[in-house]
Amino acid sequence: MKQSIKKAAVIGSGVMGSGIAAHLANVGIPTLLLDIVPNKLTDDEEKKGLTLSDKVVRNRIVQSSLQKLLKQKPAPLTTKSNLQLIEAGNLEDDIEKLKDCDWIIEVIVENLEVKKSLFEKVDQHRKPGSIVSSNTSGISVEAMSEGRSEDFQKNFLGTHFFNPPRYLKLLEVIPTKNTDPAVVSFIKEFGENVLGKGIVLAKDTPNFIANRIGTYGLLVTVKEMLEGGYSVGEVDSVTGPLIGRPKSATFRTLDVVGLDTFIHVAKNVYDKVEGAEKEVFNIPSFMQTMQQNGWLGSKSGQGFYLKQGKEILELD
Ligand code: NAI
Repeated sequence: MKQSIKKAAVIGSGVMGSGIAAHLANVGIPTLLLDIVPNKLTDDEEKKGLTLSDKVVRNRIVQSSLQKLLKQKPAPLTTKSNLQLIEAGNLEDDIEKLKDCDWIIEVIVENLEVKKSLFEKVDQHRKPGSIVSSNTSGISVEAMSEGRSEDFQKNFLGTHFFNPPRYLKLLEVIPTKNTDPAVVSFIKEFGENVLGKGIVLAKDTPNFIANRIGTYGLLVTVKEMLEGGYSVGEVDSVTGPLIGRPKSATFRTLDVVGLDTFIHVAKNVYDKVEGAEKEVFNIPSFMQTMQQNGWLGSKSGQGFYLKQGKEILELD
């Protein structure tokens, strides 16, 4: 084995980043979890007389993600004390700490330009030989590494975890033509033996394998629902509990994934296909309205369902 992972970093502490950090902590790996610095105070922070330069404010986004890890169901942490293995920070103040990390996983918004600009910074601050990977759902892995140093490109690949990371076994590993085969072998072995994943090697094509099929199936289901005049509840019954999949019904899945993320992921394919297939990947207008309203699912507190599971949207 080429190297070991003594310390990891996860950049982006949202739905997936916090879950991946928890999974790493569960297997005993100290993990640095970074996010961006907030540009506005909350009402509560203002009342307390805090300013944007206070550490507690600067680390607020990632801290609140960590707090959510303690409340989420099913639990992302095998034991609450694993949280101590996760160090919260922000990119501006803590980027130097990437030098101590053997594996840096990018888990930020699904946007090529934003990810490229982050990788430019990571390239400047990582130690040579450290592995860097992206949890992208389907953006070209090679495109993300364009312009980076030779050492970065040799050690860069896609590692696509599924939601929730502690429970879903699939890990898609996506090398580029520049990835060192020894790095791919190491991540495969580490993924299987340490993280307990089932590894699938995927080609660097839009949305790789699982999301290429998954987004297509989900959007065809939604279009059939609109044409047939069915309700969210009816669709979820026949795509979920009634066929023995209580946790993977169509709209419950969207609430867990986050509607904004789903729309970004569908767009990865929309931009690259033509004709009837493009029509499938064209997001229905009611979903676009929900996104504009900020009804993104569990992460924003409102989506197709309330957090408590009560239906709030009826389509008729
Ligand atoms: P999210 O919206 O829940 O979290 C994104 C986080 O990244 C936020 O905390 C945000 O503040 C932070 N962020 C944004 N720009 C940043 C920057 N420049 N530097 C540092 N942090 C930044 O998104 P989610 O769902 O966790 O997705 C993250 C990535 O994982 C995306 O690439 C997505 O496609 C992928 N993914 C998402 C899955 C899901 O079920 N939600 C499943 C598998 C992959």
